[in-house]
Parts: sequence; structure tokens; C-alpha cells
Amino acid sequence: NGLSISPTTSLQSPLQIFVRAKKKINLVYGEVEVYVNDSANFLLGVPKNCELVKQEEQDIVTSHVGKVKGIREVLARDHMKVAFFGRTSNGKSTVINSMLRERILPSGIGHTTNCFIQVEASENGESYLIAENSDERKNVKSVSQLAHSLLCSDSLGDNSLVKVFWPTDKCPLLRDDVVLVDSPGIDVSPNLDSWIDRHCLDADVFVLVANSESTLMLTEKNFFFKVSARLSKPNVFVLNNRWDASASEPEFLEEVRKQHLLRTVDFLVDELKVCNSRAEAEQRVFFVSAKEVLQARINEFKGLPINTGMVADGFHGRYFEFQDFERKFEECISKSAVRTKFDQHTKRGKAIVSDTRNVMEALLERASVKRAAKTQIRREVLDHLDFTEKQLQLVTVEMKDKICKMVEEVEHKVSKAL
Ligand code: GTP
Ligand code: MG
Repeated sequence: NGLSISPTTSLQSPLQIFVRAKKKINLVYGEVEVYVNDSANFLLGVPKNCELVKQEEQDIVTSHVGKVKGIREVLARDHMKVAFFGRTSNGKSTVINSMLRERILPSGIGHTTNCFIQVEASENGESYLIAENSDERKNVKSVSQLAHSLLCSDSLGDNSLVKVFWPTDKCPLLRDDVVLVDSPGIDVSPNLDSWIDRHCLDADVFVLVANSESTLMLTEKNFFFKVSARLSKPNVFVLNNRWDASASEPEFLEEVRKQHLLRTVDFLVDELKVCNSRAEAEQRVFFVSAKEVLQARINEFKGLPINTGMVADGFHGRYFEFQDFERKFEECISKSAVRTKFDQHTKRGKAIVSDTRNVMEALLERASVKRAAKTQIRREVLDHLDFTEKQLQLVTVEMKDKICKMVEEVEHKVSKAL
């Protein structure tokens, strides 16, 4: 078919910016942990009667031990999070499946997704799901099994979250620490505010899956107004999905595209104010067909040509546009996640190390003063001993002379008597 669509290899991927930064910050925090733990143990080991360590200093370092442990746990779990929103049946689940290169999430006509579904890497190569408020791992081997399990979780309600853990062998995104969150249609839920509070505040990127057969709807706009009221300048991408439908009306294609682009750019720049310029916003809007991309990738995996069967005109263009979206999305999410996830931790790490260092330096200072004082006392005692020794020597010489004289006198008297 003359089209090369090999998946972005992990090493070239912009996602590596995050992956490498995560590795590095974890290493650095490992060293911070050793330093803080060593310092805390040292302080504990200093005998109390020396009165060298103040209680508040001990408390500071001990509390840092707990903090570093907590941060290390968060860092180990940190990932890049992308959340997909849009009206029912616009193709959110299909877009996610295309990005994952596999039919994982249930999709279909009608209202399919009934709760939040977060797809992330499975660490043991098995596919399973964990529903909210439960520790039970339910194995899922196929999309139909997953759909069934999700239906059984229906009682959880549209605000609840089901985590799906999936093997990473076919999904480079999962391998590189991206988690993808699917949502029910924003037009079917009255819970938008609590959705945002529960599922959106830690998202690095939002993808609005719009329907290119209609126009951007007020419900979609309102949802993102709410998001941007809670988050400063969220990263938003807009996918005009189902663009394959345009192939049947080629005479209107350019005009419709222009109209959608204009409206979406107006929305991002003037209304939502998440992009500074129209040129920047244009880099956030794509015209794609998730359904075609998914089919192509499934074919490719099976070793078949990517465009078997009936494909609408313009397939290659739409396919490239989807890849272009993925590339720009990867760059954006990677940089944004490094900034939002690691910046704070870097600052806290610096503060923890410098606090601990201050405590240890103060201790060193106090110990040096004490040692100097002791040295002074020792010197004085030595001087005193020196003096006494000399006095003794003098006394000894005087006594010797006296005794000699006495002996001489006695000898003299004795000789006279004789
Ligand atoms: P809910 O979960 O119900 O909110 O829907 P959704 O937004 O997840 O949509 P889903 O992915 O389930 O897709 C709905 C229907 O649209 C399915 O039958 C898909 O096969 C179809 N579909 C998705 N993307 C495209 C596309 O790009 N072109 C065409 N022609 N059909 C699509
Ligand atoms: Mg869905």
C-alpha cells in the first residue's frame, strides 16, 4: 500500500522526555532518602546527656523521613494522564482503542460507556480490571468480557471509576507510562462538576472528541468552560472524528473543514482562552476517522494490508492526520506532565535537603564549640600540673641541700666528740 505506519518506537517517542525525567527524579529521590534517613539515625544515636541535639531539630528531620517516603511512593506511581470527553457516540472509546492499537474498550452505537474507564499498563502481562472501592482483580480476556464486567458494575454510577490494566506489548503508549481515561457522554450526565473534581484535576491533556458531521455543541463547550475554571490553561486537543463521512460529499469537504476549523479555533482562542494565537490553536485541531485507524492498525498487526475492504476516499490523508495528532499530543503531554508532576517535587526535595543540612550543620557547630571548650580546660589542667611539677622539683632540690648540710653537721659533731 506504499504507506509506512510502523508504531513510533519507544526511544524516538517524545514521551521519553517524561520517562527519562521520571527515572532521574526517582534516582535523585533515592539519594535524598538515604541522606535524610542517615541524618535521622545519626541524630537518634547522639546521647541525650550531651545536650547537642534540640528536640525540634530531631522532629524536623524525622518528619522529612516520612515526607520523602510519601513523595517516593507518589513518584513511582506518577504517569501521564489523558482524559477523553465528548458527546455520546462521537467515538471516544474508538479513538482510545485506535491509540492503543487494539479493540480494548467497548464501543458501539447508542450510549455505550457508562462510567469512567481508566486504561493503564498491567505490570504482570495479564489483563484485568479493578472496580472502584474494591481490591478484587477481575480477569478480562476480551472486549466482550470487559463490556459484560462493566455492565455488571453499572450500579457504580457514571461518576465511578473502573481501572483496566492491559499488557503493554501492543501498546507503546501504555509502555511509556500514559494512562487513558474514557468517559460517558457529557450530554447524558448531570454530574459534570463532580466529574471534573474527581477525574480531571490531575489530567495533563484533555481530548475533546467532536463529531465532524455536526458542529461543536454547547454541552461540549460548557464542559470545557467548567474545566478551565478549575484548571489554569488546560491542554485541549480537538478531534473532529468521523471525518470519513466527508468522503461521501467531496464537493463540501473543504468548506466544511474550514468552517469547523474556524469555529474550533474561535472556541480555543477567544472563548476558552487556552491558546494564545490562532496558529497555536490550529495545531490542536484534527480531522480524523478513529474507526478507520483502528481497523488499519488491527490489520497491520495481523500482517494484512492496512486498507483492506471498503475504505472511503482520502483514507491516507486522514490516517496521517491521526498520526500527526498522536505526535503533537505526545509532545504536549510529556512536557506538561514533567512540569506539573515533577516541578513541585523538585522544589520540595531541595527544601528537605537544605533543612536537613541546616540541622546537621548546627549540630556540627555546637559540637565544635563544645570540643574547643573541653580542649581549653584540658590545656589549663596541664599547665597547672606543669607548675606543680616544677615546684616539686624545686622543693626536692632544697630538701636535698638541707639534708646534706644536716648530715655534714652531724658528721662534724661526731668527729669532734671522738
Ligand atoms: P459512548 O461511550 O456511548 O459515549 O460513545 P463513544 O463516544 O465512546 O463512541 P464509540 O467509540 O462507542 O463509537 C460509537 C459508534 O461510532 C461505533 O459504532 C463506532 O464504530 C462508530 N465510530 C467511531 N468512530 C468512527 C469514525 O471515525 N467513523 C465512523 N464512520 N464511525 C465511527
Ligand atoms: Mg464510549
